[in-house]
Amino acid sequence: MPTILDNLNWRYATKKFDATKQAGEADISVLKQAVNLAATSFGLQPFRVAVVTDQAIKDKLKAAAYDQTQVADASHIFVFAAKKTMSAEYVDDFIKMTAQQRAIPLESVEGYGEYIKGSISSHDDEFILNWNKRQAYIALGTLLAAAAEQRLDACPMEGFEPAKFDEILGLADKGLTACVIAPVGYRSEEDHAQNYAKVRFPLGEMFL
Ligand SMILES: Cc1cc2nc3c(=O)[nH]c(=O)nc-3n(C[C@H](O)[C@H](O)[C@H](O)COP(=O)(O)O)c2cc1C
Repeated sequence: MPTILDNLNWRYATKKFDATKQAGEADISVLKQAVNLAATSFGLQPFRVAVVTDQAIKDKLKAAAYDQTQVADASHIFVFAAKKTMSAEYVDDFIKMTAQQRAIPLESVEGYGEYIKGSISSHDDEFILNWNKRQAYIALGTLLAAAAEQRLDACPMEGFEPAKFDEILGLADKGLTACVIAPVGYRSEEDHAQNYAKVRFPLGEMFL
């Protein structure tokens, strides 16, 4: 069985996907569960993910991604969209969900909710949006590792126009804004990037 290092060496930021190959729904379900299991600050999961498969929409997204072909050719496009705000109501709902899913009295977690709300209220809107985006990036990392384990190719991408993605996918209406995406599918045999050696700082430089 491959180790996590085998998987991370196998994966690469796929530049050209095979547009004729579709990822199976069972594999995609594993990726969705992995994203949902990613760690987030306080557990708030302040982002949502659109998974786009419709070719007409993928073509529109490609145009809004500087014509990067991955967005049209990959079978599933995971679009991570950060919540623009963090409200007291959202935290209250999260606390109710915590009590339900752990089958514990609401009163036993209300203090935790108050603590979270206190922490949030000390920050301005810009901080909150950036904080929410950071949580989405942790989930992106989890997705990349999970995809590699499934032997699915992926490409993390920031090279797109968030405002256009928001409009195409109706994210703004939901209080969300796209921050990072991951086309997922199968690499094209013609993708030269799969043969490139990994370029990384030596461990002795990375670790202080
Ligand atoms: C946040 C982020 C944004 C990226 N944006 C793009 C992008 O828009 N287009 C692209 O082809 N690659 C993009 N990449 C891929 C990186 O260039 C790639 O991960 C890096 O060069 C390391 O190579 P490897 O992932 O193949 O090991 C992005 C990677 C990350 C993590």
